[in-house]
Amino acid sequence: MLVDRFGRSATDLRVSLTDRCNLRCTYCMPEEGLDWMPGPDLLDDDEVIALITVAVHRLGVTEVRFTGGEPLLRRGLEKIVAATAALSPRPRISLTSNGVGLARRTDALATAGLDRVNISLDTVRADRYRMITRRDRFDDVLAGLAAAKAHGLGPVKINAVLLRGVNDDEAVPLLRFCLEHGYQLRFIEQMPLDAQHSWDRAQMVTAAEVLDSLGAAFTLAPIADPRGSAPAERWLVNGGPATVGVIASTTRPFCDACDRTRLTADGQVRNCLFSRTETDLRGPLRAGADEETLAGLWRGSAWAKAAGHGINDAGFTQPGRSMSAIGG
Ligand code: GTP
Ligand code: 5AD
Ligand code: SF4
Repeated sequence: MLVDRFGRSATDLRVSLTDRCNLRCTYCMPEEGLDWMPGPDLLDDDEVIALITVAVHRLGVTEVRFTGGEPLLRRGLEKIVAATAALSPRPRISLTSNGVGLARRTDALATAGLDRVNISLDTVRADRYRMITRRDRFDDVLAGLAAAKAHGLGPVKINAVLLRGVNDDEAVPLLRFCLEHGYQLRFIEQMPLDAQHSWDRAQMVTAAEVLDSLGAAFTLAPIADPRGSAPAERWLVNGGPATVGVIASTTRPFCDACDRTRLTADGQVRNCLFSRTETDLRGPLRAGADEETLAGLWRGSAWAKAAGHGINDAGFTQPGRSMSAIGG
């Protein structure tokens, strides 16, 4: 197991498959993109599979989520999903994607063993989509969402980040859209993880603001089940069964229930989105380390995990890697 000094155990592995992205969301990276990881630094498909195998066979990981950058840019995605689905015990397998180009791959991904997808969509207006992502792919993403639902990759969840003065009037339209199509919507508070380091607490649209906006148009009832380790707190909408969620990382941190461990595309384990240190597995793997040695290094990373992200502490500074290089 991956246990830490605060009594948490990490059973949910997030694997970033690339730091590249085909969108340029203003709150994530600049128009010109970033200095992408050099090819030789990236784990190849077999190396990724080898490390997921260590996590599932030796460390008690039961859920594997593929992230990026944009994980659909990884050619070997279907192969990696299939190899993950072949492990025993079989972990649950999910994908966090921007949805661009998803429609033509849902069939292969579902066949490979993907269970469900979370898709980013911050607006229901094509013109705003172009402004926020700096790319004209709105219809493509809608097609991806529909295809995911049609292939049973659900519940299909939508992640939305509201930006002040840009799309902060869209809480209600986004929820209407999701109710109409049967997608499960979650609003995410912006975190200080953007490449430009331009996060500003005063500009962050808070969970409380989102709930205020929604409350004017819908009846919301908090879902009583303990939230467990899920980042989203959820509400029943108009008596249910539809729900809406809020991931309030900053105003209502959920670190004390964290069950995550992360692997970057270049083979580093991070015990937290906000961790300051990483544990290299690529070097030892390439040097021929056996599964138990790799597992031991991974356990060491978990043990060193901090109590929380520290965003609300005086003197907080962003970690070196930005969101797109960690995988969110
Ligand atoms: P579900 O299992 O479907 O609930 O997935 P998820 O919400 O954990 O994953 P997803 O990739 O869709 O992430 C949604 C948002 O939650 C993103 O902004 C993530 O960065 C954020 N998030 C995911 N895990 C963590 C975490 O451990 N800590 C914090 N602070 N945010 C997280
Ligand atoms: N804060 C919060 N969420 C972010 N995302 C990207 N950057 C940030 C940030 N700085 C979101 C994406 C995607 C999810 C994985 O994380 O919009 O939906
Ligand atoms: Fe876990 Fe870190 Fe996220 Fe907190 S910020 S929930 S400790 S990964």
